[in-house]
Parts: sequence; structure tokens; C-alpha cells
Amino acid sequence: MAIAQSKSLQAYNSFGVQASAAFFTSIANRNDLEEALSYAQQENLPIQVLGSGSNVLLIRDFPGLVVHIGNQGVEWLESASAEFERVRVAAGENWHNFVSTCLNKNLYGLENLALIPGTVGAAPIQNIGAYGAEIANYFVELTAYDREENRWLSMDKSQCEFAYRDSVFKSGGRGRYIVIDVTLELSKQWEPNLSYQALTERLKDTEPNPQTVFETVCSIRREKLPDPAELGNAGSFFKNPTISQEKYAALSEQLPGLPNFDIEEEGLTKIPAAWLLDKLGWKGRSRGRAKVHNNHALVLVNPGEASGEDILLLAQEMSSSVLEKFGIALEPEVQIL
Ligand code: EPU
Repeated sequence: MAIAQSKSLQAYNSFGVQASAAFFTSIANRNDLEEALSYAQQENLPIQVLGSGSNVLLIRDFPGLVVHIGNQGVEWLESASAEFERVRVAAGENWHNFVSTCLNKNLYGLENLALIPGTVGAAPIQNIGAYGAEIANYFVELTAYDREENRWLSMDKSQCEFAYRDSVFKSGGRGRYIVIDVTLELSKQWEPNLSYQALTERLKDTEPNPQTVFETVCSIRREKLPDPAELGNAGSFFKNPTISQEKYAALSEQLPGLPNFDIEEEGLTKIPAAWLLDKLGWKGRSRGRAKVHNNHALVLVNPGEASGEDILLLAQEMSSSVLEKFGIALEPEVQIL
């Protein structure tokens, strides 16, 4: 396991901002990870784990050891039920390639989650979701290194405490666990999940199949969301806020046509942060070297030379305006490091 010094992280974050790591290593297996952890312990270095850096904003240089998760491999496993198959996949695999692999094997469920940037290991951290599905729906277990108890352990769905763009890895267990592989259970029988309005509309006059859903999700995403390879970004910068039904009723008077989505918690509803930001004119606006995407008000972009600080300042200005005008505090979805 090689350890580099003063390593630029520009290629390791999808915003493409400049920041460096005092020490950096890429791990290919469990053994590499154990070695990296003992090195950090010996040298008394803090650790930051990175997958492909597609949901982080780096606002300063990191004084410790950045551990890039680069292990690869997909293992097909039997399931207790003949209708399903399990798959154990290495944390360093690319999420979208993995979604394609499953579809090519006629295993279904993940097609609504096509084209989400990032690695498999990062997917459970924020419980990735899109177009009416989230990884929690297919999750069985994962293997992680527990840095508190210094051992490998297997964590099932309830231990991961999945919620909307959240899990134990983002909340209480932040920094404690390092995910090395993830096991999902996929169906051999396709059950369409076309609940999300944008999908229903596109597919309404067709006889959808898993491939067309996959392709439609990809094309909707390509229209609205910039490709990080072409324009630095980390997808939605903020979470969609959850508010009370009363607050929603009051806001709707102020903002006719404000959309909302039903959620499980009684008396609460979710509203799109993008819609609020769009109302306030944020789409396409620039602040210094940082910018809001032309096609989506929830996506901040780096047109070229922006720093993490530039992007953070823009985000703060956006959330302040929403708080001031609508009394809603937006919470970042992206992890600020
Ligand atoms: N809208 C606007 N203006 C905009 C963009 C959107 O008014 O500039 C409106 C849309 O018309 C729609 C609503 O806002 O009524 C929601 O927009 P959209 O369907 O684009 O979804 P979103 O709520 O902004 C969420 C996820 C995305 C995910 C999509 C599709 C969050 C924070 N974001 O976005 O996830 O791809 O739904 O399921 O939950 C991500 O997490 O990085 C991400 C991209």
C-alpha cells in the first residue's frame, strides 16, 4: 500500500475544486485498509474516507490521511427465495456501471437509480434515491470496519438507520464505520415503479420495460443535471425540506402552485427546495466564481475556477434567502469537509 504526500484532491471530488491531502492512499482490499488505519494511528493522523467524491464539498486542505476506497468486484449469491438473487458488491465499484450490470443479468429494481454519480460504498451513506426508489428498498447488509471497536462487522438494514438521504453513517456513526462491501437483493421479476411524476409523464403512452425505464431515467437526468465530467457539481446541494401540513397550507397561499410530496410521518409533508429557490430567481445566477445551474435551482456548479469556499458562500446566500422569505431552513445534502 503506497502513501502519497501533499496530494491534490481535484480529481477526487466532482465539484473539481482544489484542495490537498497531507497524506493519501487508495485501498484495493481489506488488508490495505487495515494497513492504512494502522499507519494513521502510528502517525496520529485524522482520516477522511473518499469514494469518488460526488457528494462532498472540500472547503480546505485536509491535514491527515485521505483513504480512497478503490476495491472492485461483484459476487452473485443465492437468495432464500427463488424470486430473488443477492449480490455482494465492492464499495469501490462505480454505482451506475453496477446498475447496468444488474439489468444485463435480468435482475431488477435499480433501474430508477441509474446514472447517480458515485461509488457503491457511498450509496448507503446517504441512502441514495431518485425517481421513487432508494437503495434502502434493496438493501440486505454491508461489511464495514468499526474504528471504535477495531474490528470488521456486518450491519443489517435496521443497524444502518436509513432515512431520507440519511443513515447512521451520516449521523451518529459519522467517521466510525468504513464500508468495504454492500449486499443487495434484487428481483428476477420486474415490477415497474413509475410513481414519480416525471417518469409517469414520459412513459404514459408506452408499454414500459426495465430497459426503457433505465433509458428514460438516464435521459431525464441528462436534461436536468449537469455531467460532473463536463461541469463540476454534486447533484442536489440541499435536501428537500419537511414541513408541517399547517405550514404548507400557509405557504401555499403565499406561493400558489407550491408542489408537495406525501411522506410517511403524519402531519408532515415534503416540498421541493428547487421550486422555492427557483421562485427566488436563483436558477442560472452567479456569485463570484460559483454558479447555480441553468436547468436546476438545487444544483450548484463550478464553471472552472471556483474554490470550495466560493461554492459554500453561494450556498449560504441561497439558504439565507429561503429562510428570510419563507421561514424554512434548508439543510445541505452534500457533506462539507
Ligand atoms: N423545480 C423547479 N425549478 C427547478 C428545478 C425543479 O421549480 O429549477 C421543481 C420541479 O418542477 C418539480 C420539483 O421542483 O416540481 C422537484 O424537482 P425534481 O423532480 O428535479 O426533483 P428534486 O426534488 O429537485 C430530487 C432529488 C434528486 C433526484 C430527483 C429525482 C433531493 C434533494 N434531490 O430532486 O437527487 O434525482 O428528486 O428523484 O431529494 C441528489 O440527491 O443529488 C439528487 C440529484
